[in-house]
Amino acid sequence: MTDFLHAHERVLELRRQINHHNHLYYVLDAPEISDEEYDALLRELQHLETEHPSLVTADSPTQRVGAEPLKAFGIIRHRKPLLSLGNAFNKEELRDWHKRVIKLLPGEDLRFVCEHKMDGLAVALTYENGSLVTGATRGDGEEGENVTQNLRTIRSLPLAVHGTAPERFEVRGEVYLPKANFDKLNKEREKEGLPLFANPRNAAAGSVRQLDPKVTARRPLDIFIYMLGWVNNGEMPQSHWEALNLVKEWGFRTNPNNRRFDTMDEVEKFYDEWLEKRETLPYEADGIVVKLDNLVQQEKLGAAGREPRWAIAFKFPAHRATTQLKDIGISVGRTGTLNPYAILEPVFVGGVVIRQASLHNEDDIRRKDIRIGDTVVIQRAGDVIPQVVGPVLEKRRGNPPVFSIEDKLRSADGKARCPVEGCGAEIVRSEGEAMYYCPNAACPAQLAEKLEHFVSRPGMDIRGVGERLAVAFLAEGLVKNIADLYDLEAERLASREGMGEKSAANIISAIGKSKIRPLPNVIFALGIRHIGEENAAILAREFGSLEALAKAEREKLGGIPGIGDKIADSVIEFFGQPQNQEIVKRLISALQTPPVSMLKKETSLLGGKEFVITGTLKTMSREQAWEKIRAVGGVTKPNITKNTRYLVAGEEAGSKLEKARTLGIEIISEVELLAKLKPSTDPQPRLL
Ligand code: IVH
Repeated sequence: MTDFLHAHERVLELRRQINHHNHLYYVLDAPEISDEEYDALLRELQHLETEHPSLVTADSPTQRVGAEPLKAFGIIRHRKPLLSLGNAFNKEELRDWHKRVIKLLPGEDLRFVCEHKMDGLAVALTYENGSLVTGATRGDGEEGENVTQNLRTIRSLPLAVHGTAPERFEVRGEVYLPKANFDKLNKEREKEGLPLFANPRNAAAGSVRQLDPKVTARRPLDIFIYMLGWVNNGEMPQSHWEALNLVKEWGFRTNPNNRRFDTMDEVEKFYDEWLEKRETLPYEADGIVVKLDNLVQQEKLGAAGREPRWAIAFKFPAHRATTQLKDIGISVGRTGTLNPYAILEPVFVGGVVIRQASLHNEDDIRRKDIRIGDTVVIQRAGDVIPQVVGPVLEKRRGNPPVFSIEDKLRSADGKARCPVEGCGAEIVRSEGEAMYYCPNAACPAQLAEKLEHFVSRPGMDIRGVGERLAVAFLAEGLVKNIADLYDLEAERLASREGMGEKSAANIISAIGKSKIRPLPNVIFALGIRHIGEENAAILAREFGSLEALAKAEREKLGGIPGIGDKIADSVIEFFGQPQNQEIVKRLISALQTPPVSMLKKETSLLGGKEFVITGTLKTMSREQAWEKIRAVGGVTKPNITKNTRYLVAGEEAGSKLEKARTLGIEIISEVELLAKLKPSTDPQPRLL
């Protein structure tokens, strides 16, 4: 046998063994070999695949982490919509649901499957010929994001199914972060100075929606499959319970706590039991889901809007307790918002000791009439960060003063200042806004976010300086603000641990290339509050240069169509800050922003016209199309409204197409869009 054939055979055998042990370890929780033995198998496979790259397949266990970062997620249209669930908050509401079911299915036998309502993120996974082909988030239920590469990193999700599964099928389930992993992740983030995830749900969602699968791979996610979506070339089973057993046979992880019952009394007992024991679960569950077992009955009942009539979520009540509010602290968020938080007399709530709780904003504190020293009710609803519900007024002693952020942060000179060490900028609050914030772009608490935003694709698009590097540069003191990026030197970068000369040179070159980013992107990259991509494009057209914008007067800004008072104030505040002025001055001298005169002419063509995109485009991603439309003065919107001027229909266009037809909105193809995007200054003669 040739070397290659021999290798091929061994590769297949290794994959079979690794998949088998993966399933034992991650799905059944019953490993048969040691970690070392498992690693040896994986290493041998990796070695053979490196030697013979043609043997690498997408479903190889080596491919769980290998994928390259994505620029943006593609869109996947669900073949069957992903529904949500109606809620019952007490037994009466649960019984009402039961009564409605009986009414719609008179005389029929009913069985119920009870499951935990996992607090995670719904995903739909399709398999073809035994291999995972796509994984999508729920999205709006019709279309979700293509997160296949990230879902591949979940060890308990089989990349290749077991036994004889149908040729094509879809399973649905909940991706979640087990409680223990969540605590570990947040502890690590705290150490690294990163913002904490509020709850396991956010952490799971954030991890699945990571553009870099390697980041997802480091987050120990897990998944329970809770439904068989559809089956091709094979029959759907008769009942949901059978479906759950089937997918388990195919190698998927289903929740071992699932139960099937014949009566509602048993359903209620299941709920009561878990309400008692929910703290003992290794994952966060916010209730139970009761599903009608028979799939024919499910079909008969159908859905009312987005909610199936055949299922209901019976929620657990939030955990509550009372304790004393010792003080109110102020933290500075990464976008500069000043967030008041409650400093509490430690109290036990739902299995954890709570010392701090969120207080939203000053208005909320006043509306609820919460004062320092009060006895307050706090609540946790699956959240790590609990909320203060309100004071127990009967227990208030004396008449403590009404809380004020300005008083709290007032310094010796009488001005309220940002509490972050090394900042001290005067805080601001725009008319009609609930939050105070620190307007200083160089505020240490905001730098990481500012830097990430600056290098992001719609900003300066500095490839290679991703989120992680930006934060590392800050931590190492290589950069202290966004302008410092343009002073970085290759030699200094190359001497960083783990960075070679080549990567250093690539980064410097990417930074160099960003110098010619168009003005709208530069303005967006500054991270001025309320200035998204659209507003940045408007300001670029109006002012034509960063210098002119930096000198803009309030009156002129306020008079620009599309720029409201809130935005105008924010621009004035930003450029009014001495620290920002310094940064902008340095940027202006570092950048070589091309002139905007071209943009101005084109504006008249598409200026202000609203575009919506549906389906997949061939020559560019949706995000690229958005950027191009905005660059010529068009406005992009996610959904069709009566103001939509054009619907751009790509391949496999979705429900928006029908909506556009009904509303009589002009539908254009990708080619037609490209034609419209061509500059009107096009020197070619036009055929009329
Ligand atoms: S079944 C058609 N089962 O709840 C019914 N969903 O509020 C919906 N969820 O988007 C799917 N645990 O993310 C189902 N055992 C479970 C669930 C569950 C959590 C989530 C799911 C869905 C949301 C609906």
